[in-house]
Amino acid sequence: MKAPPERLYGRARGHRLRARQELLLQVTLPRLRFPAELAANPLAAFAPRPAECWLEVGFGGGEHALAQAAAHPEAGLIACEVFVNGLCSLLSRLVPEVAEATAALPGNLRVWDADARTLIRALPPACLDRLFLLFPDPWPKARHAKRRFVHPATLAEVARVLKPGAEWRIASDDPTYQAWVVEVLAAQDAFAAAPPVARRPAGWPPTRYEVKALAAGRTPLYWSLRRR
Ligand SMILES: C[S@@+](CC[C@H](N)C(=O)[O-])C[C@H]1O[C@@H](n2cnc3c(N)ncnc32)[C@H](O)[C@@H]1O
Repeated sequence: MKAPPERLYGRARGHRLRARQELLLQVTLPRLRFPAELAANPLAAFAPRPAECWLEVGFGGGEHALAQAAAHPEAGLIACEVFVNGLCSLLSRLVPEVAEATAALPGNLRVWDADARTLIRALPPACLDRLFLLFPDPWPKARHAKRRFVHPATLAEVARVLKPGAEWRIASDDPTYQAWVVEVLAAQDAFAAAPPVARRPAGWPPTRYEVKALAAGRTPLYWSLRRR
């Protein structure tokens, strides 16, 4: 099986940005950005220092990341996204207009606006208590399988940074990706994986992508893996 390429995502910028979005990127994002130099000690990026460190890969519009950060002040959440319009969406929900430079920001939320795998590689072993991968880009063509985040090579990197007993949540509505997750999980022993469920478990805030999938009649599956 081929190793994953350096780029896992399709496009990093969609339609043209409005003035407010430019301001959010220039003024608010630096206030919230996870500093790369703290990768060796991620809890130090939060104030106050949280009891746990969580990470979300590909937060999209940020609905899930914001809901988790609000519901769990005990956890510091690093929310990763490469898509600029997604970054703007999270930032615009956080700060009111004209307060981009001054609005109070949650002390337990930090944004990584680059490939999540780069950060994962820089983190120390066994530092994360929870990882979220919700509706990853499916890359349904077989020749693109190496771009899928769930991949034997990435699985080893994720296993390295999760603490024993830590949870990895995965959701997907794409039948090809669902079958792929089952196949990849069957071939590894770093994670204990119960069969997926077809109803979103309690404590999993919905995402925009999920709402679209349900409206289109697709059936998401939800996995909760445990690091052995
Ligand atoms: C299909 S969307 C789902 C977004 C969101 N989780 C939801 O459920 O609404 C997948 C997102 O993952 C992001 N993404 C893909 N690969 C990534 C990576 N390696 N690091 C960070 N973000 C990534 C994409 O930019 C995209 O916004």
